[in-house]
Amino acid sequence: MRTAVLGAPGQLGRDICPRLRGEVIPLGRVDIDLSDAARLRSKLTELRPDVVINCAAYNFVDQAESEPSAAFAVNAWAVRDLASVCRDLDCTLVHFSTDYVFGLDESRRVPYAEDDLPGPVSVYGLSKLAGEYLVRSTCPKHFVIRTCGLYGVWGSGGKGKNFVETMLKIAGQGKPLRVVNDQRCTPSFTADIADAAVALLQTADFGLYHITNAGDCTWYEFAREIFRAAGMSADITPITSAEFAAPARRPGYSVLSNDKLNRVGVTAPRPWTEALGAYLVARAGK
Ligand SMILES: NC(=O)c1ccc[n+]([C@@H]2O[C@H](COP(=O)([O-])OP(=O)(O)OC[C@H]3O[C@@H](n4cnc5c(N)ncnc54)[C@H](OP(=O)(O)O)[C@@H]3O)[C@@H](O)[C@H]2O)c1
Repeated sequence: MRTAVLGAPGQLGRDICPRLRGEVIPLGRVDIDLSDAARLRSKLTELRPDVVINCAAYNFVDQAESEPSAAFAVNAWAVRDLASVCRDLDCTLVHFSTDYVFGLDESRRVPYAEDDLPGPVSVYGLSKLAGEYLVRSTCPKHFVIRTCGLYGVWGSGGKGKNFVETMLKIAGQGKPLRVVNDQRCTPSFTADIADAAVALLQTADFGLYHITNAGDCTWYEFAREIFRAAGMSADITPITSAEFAAPARRPGYSVLSNDKLNRVGVTAPRPWTEALGAYLVARAGK
């Protein structure tokens, strides 16, 4: 089994690669820039992988509002090209998407299943939803995996640090924090998502899946738990999304159900509080 991993230097890619069996080919932007369709096809044709795992994405949620073409180039059109190469090579494509494909239903308080109707409220969410549809309609042997609020020991390659590191850094400097308390989702540890995604890949149950840690919280509640678990005190105030005034709208509720994952025999990831504890231990030993 030969597996090519796109976006291997990103935070999820770094946790996926060591968990794969057989020959693993980690690929970064220097090896294949996803926006270069000809190079994408020639390089993958030369490598002849059995499986391609795409961890690469345009992840700048706020910036996407003012540069939709850049977001769609990587998250949709490059994914369409990737899916057609994988179909032509008869290989399996594993592609990651996001809880931000949801958000239109403001009153929702029940975790979303895979067959719930999406409704993105941001350019980023729309570009990722387009990517999902392009994979699902182009490459028959696919796993499209929606996940949420990722943090990994390597930090987020494209964006600098992840939310946990940002909170620890600001509080460590003794600065006050204002954190949004009206967006409920499930922060997820990339190591846990990688474990479940690699287990899912061993099944032949292709399709769309949700994989997150269990439970849910707001970003404010998550920050409080980070400081509690790290044994730190912090000057932290809950605020609304309107007060934070980010350029991109985020869902008020985007909790994803892992039930389908369980139904195909893959153990869903542990509760988010336990995962955070494991992350804090892992980063200390980095
Ligand atoms: N981060 C989250 O909170 C979150 C939440 C839900 C879903 N997801 C999804 O989960 C997946 C993994 O996210 P992540 O947090 O691991 O992302 P990440 O750490 O930001 O890594 C993304 C990787 O994609 C690469 N990339 C971007 N544009 C590229 C291009 N044109 N060609 C080749 N490589 C390119 C980046 O390279 P450079 O470093 O060179 O830019 C980086 O290595 C993505 O599909 C994302 O949409 C993430």
